[in-house]
Amino acid sequence: MASRNPFSPTFGASPPVLAGRDDILDNIEDALATGPTHPDYTTLFVGIRGAGKTVTLNAVEDLARSRGWLTLSNDATAGGLLPRLTRAAAELLNSGGSAGLSRRLRSLTVGGFGLELESAPTVDVARDLRMVLSDLGDRLAENGTGLMITLDELQSGDLDEIREFGAVVQHVTRREQRPVAFAGAALPQIEDTLLSDSAATFLQRCSRYDIGRLDPRATNAAIVGPVEQRGAAIDSRALEEAVAATGGYAFMVQLVGFHTWKAAADPSAGITAQEAAEGISEAERRIGRLVLDPTWRGLSDGDRRFLTAMTGDDGSSKLADIAARLGVNVKYAGVYRRRLIKAGMVVAAGKGRINFAHPIARDWIRDKAD
Ligand SMILES: Nc1ncnc2c1ncn2[C@@H]1O[C@H](COP(=O)(O)OP(=O)(O)OP(=O)(O)O)[C@@H](O)[C@H]1O
Ligand SMILES: [Mg+2]
Repeated sequence: MASRNPFSPTFGASPPVLAGRDDILDNIEDALATGPTHPDYTTLFVGIRGAGKTVTLNAVEDLARSRGWLTLSNDATAGGLLPRLTRAAAELLNSGGSAGLSRRLRSLTVGGFGLELESAPTVDVARDLRMVLSDLGDRLAENGTGLMITLDELQSGDLDEIREFGAVVQHVTRREQRPVAFAGAALPQIEDTLLSDSAATFLQRCSRYDIGRLDPRATNAAIVGPVEQRGAAIDSRALEEAVAATGGYAFMVQLVGFHTWKAAADPSAGITAQEAAEGISEAERRIGRLVLDPTWRGLSDGDRRFLTAMTGDDGSSKLADIAARLGVNVKYAGVYRRRLIKAGMVVAAGKGRINFAHPIARDWIRDKAD
């Protein structure tokens, strides 16, 4: 009787073995131990869909909690970020009893952290957040811990809100040296939006980590580790092929692992190369639909034609070539370029060149076009 499948091919679901991110986590652990002067006290994870940003943020939260820190985790997509964070921070503060509350905050709490914050002008909301985080930070500093704030999907956040949030953390953490740490995650298009916005200096000053592909050793560990944890085994050729099929892309690692396990008659007797090959084909059939289809469905016909024109190249494309293939002028093609970068389908690849953001996109779109 095969035991439960250990792999987790689901967005945001922590993998059984989080491979290849030890350096990042070690640096952040070191930062929490050192304090706000450490460059990794505020960090930003950037990577394509399915690269493993959310689960790395989760690991950062676990790390903070294991040191006795409090955590606040939020998604920047929904509006009202500041009031949400303010309320959540106030709850943390209140749940520790009112002993540590300063007078100004106590009066604010008596007034109620109610709905009125939602409609208050942004400047007041920012001031409230700064007050709550300052008081919470002071209180946590007394017992040698701190607060870790994580924000996912920063690229879809409201620019003004993120600026305000950044200014608050800048003040509380950098200027006043309170133990309020930050880790954020975003898709690469953040380069063209938030990180090119001169007002968002806070994000620009965060330590940047590219959540990129896993190297073959890490990929190996991510596949064989969970198998062995279940008391099962995998044939060395099967493992080699599974590792190669993932290209180090984290989501694909889970997908290949999952379907390989599923294809195996008896994993405890050892997953064979034949079974791995079946699992790999199944994973390859599913990956495009899972990762690219959601974005593709939201694109206009023009966007799709642009992307299809890019599949005429095996590497990066010259914008001028794409314009020529589409029979439009370069300026007009530039409009599509910008839109597709925002959608996360395309990345800039040097002067006048672009490429697919996603390594599997080219083949997937070619298959669609056929
Ligand atoms: N380091 C890793 N080792 C093994 N599996 C991983 C690793 N990182 C992520 N995964 C797996 O990859 C998948 C995608 O991870 P995650 O949801 O964190 O991606 P993401 O970058 O946040 O994607 P999105 O931009 O769509 O939110 C999940 O199934 C997760 O378990
Ligand atoms: Mg995510």
